[in-house]
Amino acid sequence: MRQILYTSRASEGDAGTHLPDILFCSRRNNPELGVTGILLVHGDHFLQLLEGDPEQLDFVVDTIAGDPRHCDMRVILDRTVARPSFPHWSMAALPAGDGAEDATVQARDFVARSLDPDGIAGEALVEDLAALRARLKADAVA
Ligand SMILES: Cc1cc2nc3c(=O)[nH]c(=O)nc-3n(C[C@H](O)[C@H](O)[C@H](O)COP(=O)(O)O)c2cc1C
Repeated sequence: MRQILYTSRASEGDAGTHLPDILFCSRRNNPELGVTGILLVHGDHFLQLLEGDPEQLDFVVDTIAGDPRHCDMRVILDRTVARPSFPHWSMAALPAGDGAEDATVQARDFVARSLDPDGIAGEALVEDLAALRARLKADAVA
C-alpha cells in the first residue's frame, strides 16, 4: 500500500471554499478505488494524505494534480506502508460544527508543520494525523 502526503495552495482565495465540493467528489470516487485519507485546509493551503493501491493512487494523484483549483503541489512523503492510517474514511476532514475552533487551530498547526522546510518530518506528521482521527467527530467524516 502506498501513502502520499502533500501540500498545495488554492489558486484563488481560501482553500476552504472548495472543501465541500472536494469532499463530495472524494467520497463518491475514492471508495470504489479503495483510496482513503484526510484533507485539511487552512487559509489558502491544502494538506492531504492519500493512501491505497499504488496504481489507483497514481490515478487519483494525477487527477488531483491537474485540478486548476490548486497549485504548488509539494509531496512531503511518498512511501510504502503495511496498512492504511485512515482505513475507515474515503476522505476524512476536520469537523466544521461543534469544536470548529479547535479544529481550525489543529489544521493551522498541521499545515504550519508541513510548510516548515527545516522541520518537515512527514512520518511524524502522518502519525499525528492518525491520532487526530480518533478525535474526529463521526458525523464529520465519511
Ligand atoms: C486539494 C484537492 C484534493 C482532492 N482530492 C480528491 C480525492 O481524494 N478524490 C477525488 O476523487 N477527487 C479529489 N479532488 C478532485 C479532483 O481533482 C477532481 O475534480 C475529481 O476527482 C473529479 O471527479 P469527477 O470526475 O467524478 O467529477 C481533489 C481536488 C483538490 C483540489
